[in-house]
Order: sequence, then structure tokens, then C-alpha cells
Amino acid sequence: MIDIVGLKKSLGGKEVLKGVDLRIDSGELLAVIGGSGAGKTVLLKHVIGFLKPDRGDILVNGVSVPRASQKELYEIRKDFGMLFQTAALLQSLTIGENLALPLKEHTKLSRQEIDRVVTERLNWVKLFNVENRLPSDLSVGMMKRAGLARALVRDPKIVLFDEPTTGLDPVLSSTIGQLIIDLHGRLKFTSIAVTHDMSLAYMIADRIAMLHHGRIIGIGTPEEIKTSKSQVVQQFIRGMPSIQSAESLLQR
Ligand SMILES: Nc1ncnc2c1ncn2[C@@H]1O[C@H](COP(=O)(O)OP(=O)(O)O)[C@@H](O)[C@H]1O
Ligand SMILES: [Mg+2]
Repeated sequence: MIDIVGLKKSLGGKEVLKGVDLRIDSGELLAVIGGSGAGKTVLLKHVIGFLKPDRGDILVNGVSVPRASQKELYEIRKDFGMLFQTAALLQSLTIGENLALPLKEHTKLSRQEIDRVVTERLNWVKLFNVENRLPSDLSVGMMKRAGLARALVRDPKIVLFDEPTTGLDPVLSSTIGQLIIDLHGRLKFTSIAVTHDMSLAYMIADRIAMLHHGRIIGIGTPEEIKTSKSQVVQQFIRGMPSIQSAESLLQR
């Protein structure tokens, strides 16, 4: 469904992606983990066509995203839903208007039909009677859920998540994780979730890939990643500052 082949990209004089190969099967949820600045967001931006690779290709259902015309890109993006770190709701619009916007712009649905879809998606994420409230009236957790509802408003076949739990406490994080599991199970979308939150990755992912120094250095099921023999993978998933300092701690 999504094929990333030999993706290379330099930004600001630094080679951020040094040849990334990833294949995400239809209906699969792949988590991409890696430290801050590893290039996770840059990777997602290539999938949606916001950035163009220096080398390599990204194929979505066999269609090259970087080589697509504006019209083709528009068609490809119709199938995408995105949840960015900040949820990115427009602050001057109500929650209902925020969700209705993509439907008004991209569909011919009637006002009534739009209202019905908006309320349904909000209910999917367990938000009730918030249509007329402003984003600033919502708690952080509610805001994330509204962002999730908006990502799903156009029945996407592919959903991209960028750090869906950043800024949330562990309880709210697992609530979002559980919602992602439920919605993924029900809607069967293909998904890439970029995160440095290991408990989220273990919770939601079919497979986990670790991005490090511009390359995928490990990929497998959550169980395979947990038992990975790679020092770098182990260091990251256990949240160790470095192998050396961890060893010196053990020797004390
Ligand atoms: N538009 C840009 N111009 C220059 N450097 C960038 C740009 N976007 C990202 N970078 C750099 O690329 C690296 C990876 O960034 P990013 O993908 O945002 O990391 P993360 O894994 O935390 O999401 C960082 O060093 C960042 O500073
Ligand atoms: Mg990022």
C-alpha cells in the first residue's frame, strides 16, 4: 500500500534521511520510533508529498507521490487523514466547524449530511455535544480526540499520526492509544504512527520500525523489537542515556 524506497533527504546542510526503505501493507499499523530529531516528521512529510526526496521514491498504491502532478497529488491526498502533534485545530472556529471544513471544501454533501458526519466522528472519539465549543474551551485530551475525529472525517484509507500522545499524561496517552486501536480495528485504515512513546508503540503497532541516524536499524513485531539484539534499539526502548553509563550504573 505504501512503499518507501531508498529515500534520501538533506535539510539545512544535514543528511536527515540516508536511504530509508519501508513497506507498509494494506491495513497495517506501523509505528516508527526514534529519538527527537531522528527525522520522523520529515519522513511523514514525504509520504504526504509536503517534501520531495533528493533520492528515492514513495509509492502509494503504486503511484509515485514525488512525481505526481498537482492534480494527482490532490487525488492521493483525498485518501489521507493526518493527526499532527499540535492537533492544529483552527482556534477561531468551533469544533463542529473545524470538522466540517474538509467536508465543505472537498465534498458535495448537504449541510445536514455534513452535520451528521461531524457528530458521528466526534462520537467515535467519545466526544459528545462539543460541536459548538471553541478549541480553547477543551482540555488537552479532548483537543487531541477532536484532532483525531477530524483526521477521520473524510473516511481516509491511510492515516498518518505524528506524536499523537505528546504532551499527554500516561492515562490520557493510553486512552488515545485505545481509541486508535478501536478505530483501526473498525475502519481498517493503513497507518504510520511516528512516536517516541514506547508504551504507545507497543500498544497500537502491528510492527515497529526504528529510525536512527537516517536509517531504519530495526523492524519487527513489538515482541521482536523488545528482544532485539541491537544495542541501539535496546538503549532506546529502555530509555537509557547510553549503554556505557547504564553499565556503569549496574556495576555500582
Ligand atoms: N525545513 C527544515 N530545514 C532544515 N532542517 C530541518 C527542516 N525540517 C527538519 N529539519 C531537521 O531535520 C532533522 C529531523 O527533524 P524531524 O523530522 O522534525 O525530527 P523528529 O524525528 O523529531 O520528528 C532535525 O535535525 C531538524 O532540525
Ligand atoms: Mg517530529
